[in-house]
Amino acid sequence: MLTGCPERSAPPATSASPAQPKVASAPQPSQVASSAALAAEAPCTLDTQLVPGIPGSPGHLIPSAINPNGNSELAEHMRTMQSELKLARAAIERGEKVAPLWPRFRKIRCVWPTNQSDRNAAFDASAQSYLQAVAALDAAPPVDAAKAYGRVLDGCRACHEQSCGGAIPAIEALRMTAPDKK
Ligand code: HEC
Repeated sequence: MLTGCPERSAPPATSASPAQPKVASAPQPSQVASSAALAAEAPCTLDTQLVPGIPGSPGHLIPSAINPNGNSELAEHMRTMQSELKLARAAIERGEKVAPLWPRFRKIRCVWPTNQSDRNAAFDASAQSYLQAVAALDAAPPVDAAKAYGRVLDGCRACHEQSCGGAIPAIEALRMTAPDKK
């Protein structure tokens, strides 16, 4: 049976991992995140308090065809990022500019996971370095977009290697050169 993290195959990340990027995070005021779209300026950090009772929160999982238990808000967000990156890959291959992803992807830091202990400092540090790669893709001219796109997937993978190894094949299938890409 699939859970939020399919085939959880790696132990939880330790805070002392040397691969862990160092991130200096300025203290930010705690603020309640809106469930749907984040306003461009709304804070979304590890300190952001999540709203109980919204879709994807504990006890309110979102019905899913893939996951019989239902999806957390974070699992839904992962699926959204996955399908948006598939579209982005096609656009990059056509030489088109990709619409900015960071404004929608950044909520990875302030949504409900299936297991609340997954939203921890190591997760947040990985999320920040992943989001830096997303911002770099947004800023990349078309000639550099393929490389920047690959770095976004490296960011997906780096976090999953620490916390949720079962999704790595799904991440690798998003590569520009993935053999099974449609
Ligand atoms: C900062 C850590 C982190 C990053 C970055 C990250 N993930 Fe995840 N991912 C997780 C965690 C934790 C879960 C488990 C979510 C849950 O159950 O609430 C997950 C779950 C998933 C799932 C399974 C969702 C489901 O239906 O159960 C997929 C697929 C996935 N991630 C793909 C991706 C892709 C693609 C990217 C990059 C675009 C990405 N992840 C980036 C941590 C991360």
